[in-house]
Amino acid sequence: MPIPLDPEALGRRAEAMLLELAAISAETTRLVRLYLSPEYRRAADLVAGWMRETGLDVFEDALGNVRGRAGEGPRLFIGSHIETVVDAGRYDGTLGVVAAILAYDAFARASAKPGFGIELIAFGDEEASRFPTTLSTSAALAGHFEAKTLALKDAAGMTYAEALRAYGKNPDEIASVALQPQEAAAYVELHIEQGPVLEAEGEPLGIVTAMVGQTRLSIEVTGEAGHAGTVPMKLRRDALAGAAEMTLAAEKIGSEGLVATVGTIEAKPGAVNIIPGAARFTLDLRAASDQARKQAIAAFRRECEKIAARRKLGVSFALIHEIPTTPCDARLQDRLAAAIEAVGGRPLRLPSGAGHDGMSMAKLCPIAMMFVRCKGGVSHNPAEYASPHDMGLAVAALVRFIEAFRGR
Ligand code: GLV
Ligand code: MN
Ligand code: MN
Repeated sequence: MPIPLDPEALGRRAEAMLLELAAISAETTRLVRLYLSPEYRRAADLVAGWMRETGLDVFEDALGNVRGRAGEGPRLFIGSHIETVVDAGRYDGTLGVVAAILAYDAFARASAKPGFGIELIAFGDEEASRFPTTLSTSAALAGHFEAKTLALKDAAGMTYAEALRAYGKNPDEIASVALQPQEAAAYVELHIEQGPVLEAEGEPLGIVTAMVGQTRLSIEVTGEAGHAGTVPMKLRRDALAGAAEMTLAAEKIGSEGLVATVGTIEAKPGAVNIIPGAARFTLDLRAASDQARKQAIAAFRRECEKIAARRKLGVSFALIHEIPTTPCDARLQDRLAAAIEAVGGRPLRLPSGAGHDGMSMAKLCPIAMMFVRCKGGVSHNPAEYASPHDMGLAVAALVRFIEAFRGR
């Protein structure tokens, strides 16, 4: 017998939990909850408490991921992340964690525990907001944590390893977080769409076919600092003006199926009356096809080198992050489709332009993702919104998915 569900009530509970989490911020006027910060601690404790209330066996691993387990055998992992971007919305990541808790709670309330291993997880580093790394906490589970991550610094100069220690963790224990493939049956994540497709289609829920590949570069441009009042325009080697031209080159490389974003730029020494002698900016380039992404990166580098040569500047590139396009498991997609149909939805399939922890978990086990309609397609923005109605349906579909799950 399927568990009786009230999607409207589930949606209201999701909304209340998300509001509680959104109140945990480093700032009073914006939502900012960085990995391993005091706010992250409070959010992790809140989530751990909610998991415990459902009867899960809860612990925190060496990276501060919050994990709640039940049952025996290879586990179905369900989760998302609880850290945020700066000036975040309330749903990115947290919706997936809250939905997993509500779904498991539905089983607990009906005294109908799934007949297999299950693990809920709240990851810590998905957004790359504190350290120049992303997906490191899920990579650790998949056995792909990169040792060099420990030396990366945040804006205050604190390394990842120091932040872990300050949080009460031992970086030497990270390797112990890695799972064996036989421990993981699958990873499923529910996430706000962060795009406009479901809204345009009039559908509350969708199934992700693949997550597009990404390359992130840090680009350093060097010129010569000088007096803003005395150096004639023709004689300048302005690093920031060069970086600005390179930014426009990146914009031109973006096209159908390929997006390129310069999200940070910094001039040095950074004074109103000094010609910038150095500039640093980042490129985030994503494409559905790995070949198109690689070609675009090569074209961007060539364009930057041309611009630098013409302006007598130096330019160098450092690779910060690279991940190939990650397909979602076909069988799990079909099972999600059946679950969405079971709650009255049309199982619409769409790719994800955003990165998600599933990209790391795919190295360990089959993965799948369900998307929830997002108002106006707005995300990474405080205006981000998913309605309680849609969230309730999403939790209900997740329950139906778990009910029908029979391992890999
Ligand atoms: C994560 O939000 C990303 O796709 O950058
Ligand atoms: Mn996210
Ligand atoms: Mn995000």
